[in-house]
Amino acid sequence: MYALKIPLKEAEKIKNILIENNLLDFNRMIDVNKEYIFFPVLDYKNKLLKKYEIIEHNLKIKEKKQNAKQKLFSILNKDEINNLKTAFDIIGDIAIIEIDDNLKNKEKIIAKAILDTHKNIKTIVKKSGIHDGQFRTQKTIHILGEEKKISLYKENNIKLKVDVDNVYFSPRLSTERKRIMQQVKKGENILVMFSGVAPYPIVLSKNTQANSILGIELNPQAHNLGLENLKLNKIKNVILINGDVKDIIMRLDQKFDRILMPLPKTADDFLDSAFKVSKKNTIIHFYDFLSEDNFKEAYDKIEKACKKNGFEYKIQSTNKCGQHAPYVFRICVDFILTKESTKQ
Ligand SMILES: C[S@@+](CC[C@H](N)C(=O)[O-])C[C@H]1O[C@@H](n2cnc3c(N)ncnc32)[C@H](O)[C@@H]1O
Repeated sequence: MYALKIPLKEAEKIKNILIENNLLDFNRMIDVNKEYIFFPVLDYKNKLLKKYEIIEHNLKIKEKKQNAKQKLFSILNKDEINNLKTAFDIIGDIAIIEIDDNLKNKEKIIAKAILDTHKNIKTIVKKSGIHDGQFRTQKTIHILGEEKKISLYKENNIKLKVDVDNVYFSPRLSTERKRIMQQVKKGENILVMFSGVAPYPIVLSKNTQANSILGIELNPQAHNLGLENLKLNKIKNVILINGDVKDIIMRLDQKFDRILMPLPKTADDFLDSAFKVSKKNTIIHFYDFLSEDNFKEAYDKIEKACKKNGFEYKIQSTNKCGQHAPYVFRICVDFILTKESTKQ
């Protein structure tokens, strides 16, 4: 068995060359002594290795396949590991990773480690900003694998076509969708404000005995994917409307049993609209971004809007359903209207 014999001081540089050129054999162990490091290489005849010494050396076969994290820990140095964000979102076969500025020159290596260790992932893109603008979209930049931005995602017995650049979608909310779905009772008429590519409407339709679900979404690309997703899941009791929640609600003469408001940044702007289509016993799921010691702000917004619209209410539960930023949570306050409005 052979190995590439490299003086220790050149180890980091050569390791990067091997990885970048797909020459490092990840299935065998690297060996070191006081002066040299011995790399297992996939192709010892490769031109790039001509100027280095190749010797007979026994390099052990790795017993267990490494996961991406283990692989990266053997590839990156200490500082780089400290800057590494190991959590990433997977939407279908696209992985969305975050690359710290000081790791920019290692992004392909990081992407390759993920591709090599996740058979289900075909494309790696990186976030190039935060969720932004009225449509709450987030741009990404392709790094490795198939060049595509649309993928098929699965959760809670449903399939969704998602465009990672042009619509909002978060796989991290699948548990929250399940939480809501488990509350829905037979025959409910449900309004999903800000329906996006229709994850909530489709999860609720597929997994509950709701009577009807109406979704309203402003972003035409998200709305169109939502319509495709209804067909993909053979959904019959969901209607999706493309438009502004405030305008569309003015034209509705229906009251709902349950209203979802998954726009945490500005949901309180839409509470008056929600109350226009609410009645006694309507349950509202109100989302907000708040730090742990500020949850009261959400209760205050609900209290103020209920008072203004003549409703009495009872808070049923407050649920943390994700982390938005350090110490800031995405929360959902579930509340029920306990009496008809005195102002309708
Ligand atoms: C945080 S995303 C949630 C999307 C979807 N419910 C989900 O969970 O994937 C909020 C969505 O609200 C939409 N939106 C923003 N303002 C709106 C408005 N005034 N009327 C309707 N939709 C709106 C955005 O385009 C975006 O798709």
